[in-house]
Amino acid sequence: MAEIPWRAKVLTLFPAMFPGPLGLSLAGKALTEGRWSLDLLDIRDFSSDKHRTVDEPPFGGGAGLVLKPDVVDAAVNAAKLDHDAPVLYLTPRGRLFDQALAEELAAGPGVIILCGRFEGVDERVIEAHNMREVSIGDYVLSGGEPAALVVMDACIRLLPGVMGNADTAGEESFSAGLLEYPHYTRPAEWQGRTVPEVLLSGHHGKVADWRRTQSEAATKERRPDLWEKHLREQSRREDK
Ligand code: 6GU
Repeated sequence: MAEIPWRAKVLTLFPAMFPGPLGLSLAGKALTEGRWSLDLLDIRDFSSDKHRTVDEPPFGGGAGLVLKPDVVDAAVNAAKLDHDAPVLYLTPRGRLFDQALAEELAAGPGVIILCGRFEGVDERVIEAHNMREVSIGDYVLSGGEPAALVVMDACIRLLPGVMGNADTAGEESFSAGLLEYPHYTRPAEWQGRTVPEVLLSGHHGKVADWRRTQSEAATKERRPDLWEKHLREQSRREDK
């Protein structure tokens, strides 16, 4: 590939977790095709003592261990040497990851992702590198690695040439700010359950109307937060 591919550098204590699911399916094919690349930096390689220490107990006491700032700094500096990309620190304390951030990151040169483990990372190294703290949702994972896979997947599928059908990415949930309508395929009757008549009618306008109605109903019911946001953005567009 002539173009410089989108590049992800992942700083982790568990490099064996990668590429994991991103080595298969859509992302795996794109990786093979050189549309993105993955570099793994083992944080432990940046420790400076003979025991390869990476963590210490927190000042002030309490459970767990904290990743040392000097070790994380050395790893981030190594990643930055040949990659001028935003540095994300994945932590449940971060701003929620969303489609807008995925689009922003996919449009850039790539990412440097620091995966947290233990109780966390010394706050000073987060500040020193102006890291963007990002969470993938309101639950606690045992480490940032699965979150890194999620963030990368959301970006990779937006890269040029990655999705087979170029339209598919834009049509679905969140791009329009609504949840998707339900899908059906053959057989038209399965275990006594039928398919909504309109989908068999061949009437494209009626199908589009039905799908929009279904999307709106699902969004109102399941995600009132998204529905309010959708309404606000709609009225903002009408004001222009
Ligand atoms: Cl980014 N890390 C961890 N450990 N837990 C999470 C998370 C990240 N996002 C949601 N829960």
